[in-house]
Amino acid sequence: MAEHEPCVGKSDDWYTPPAIFDALGLTFDLDPCSPGPGHWVPARRVYTIADDGLSQLWTGLVFMNPPFGGREGHIPWLRRFLAHGQGVAIVRAYTSSGWFHDELVPRAEGLLFPRGKTKFIRPDGSVGGSPGHGIVLVGMGQQALGAMEASGLGLFVTIAPPASGDPS
Ligand SMILES: C[S@@+](CC[C@H](N)C(=O)[O-])C[C@H]1O[C@@H](n2cnc3c(N)ncnc32)[C@H](O)[C@@H]1O
Repeated sequence: MAEHEPCVGKSDDWYTPPAIFDALGLTFDLDPCSPGPGHWVPARRVYTIADDGLSQLWTGLVFMNPPFGGREGHIPWLRRFLAHGQGVAIVRAYTSSGWFHDELVPRAEGLLFPRGKTKFIRPDGSVGGSPGHGIVLVGMGQQALGAMEASGLGLFVTIAPPASGDPS
């Protein structure tokens, strides 16, 4: 996703490194924001910009690395992903951002912070430079959480829902 790399706003086409999929070992039902069929994301169905994946029906286990579309353009995608509740998404580990605290953490079921800087891939196959921040994989649903925990990619945490009746 463009937001992972330093050229924010220049392109949506920063592809997820295959090593992440190798580590997760999942086949997804849907990639809702894809460059097109035949891309290496292991997904049975894809939506492209021509479909506008955000306005389509999402079913099954989703993998989402959203288009940037501006400074907070990923937020509608993140909301949709969290509401869908099944799959793995990638966003910046921007722990100082309002959206991280207000949108992501209260709704995510699990978070995986890969060790080191994840280098995304350009459409021509070149590998991006070293981004100035890490990323976080967001997990929803038991299948996604189990794969994230077993992946060995880095620090995995689950987020417990607040206990009912908790006054805080
Ligand atoms: C960050 S890339 C991720 C590509 C791939 N899913 C991956 O993880 O390697 C985001 C992709 O979303 C596509 N895209 C942009 N706007 C879209 C939209 N409204 N609906 C579906 N796809 C879109 C872009 O063409 C781009 O290929």
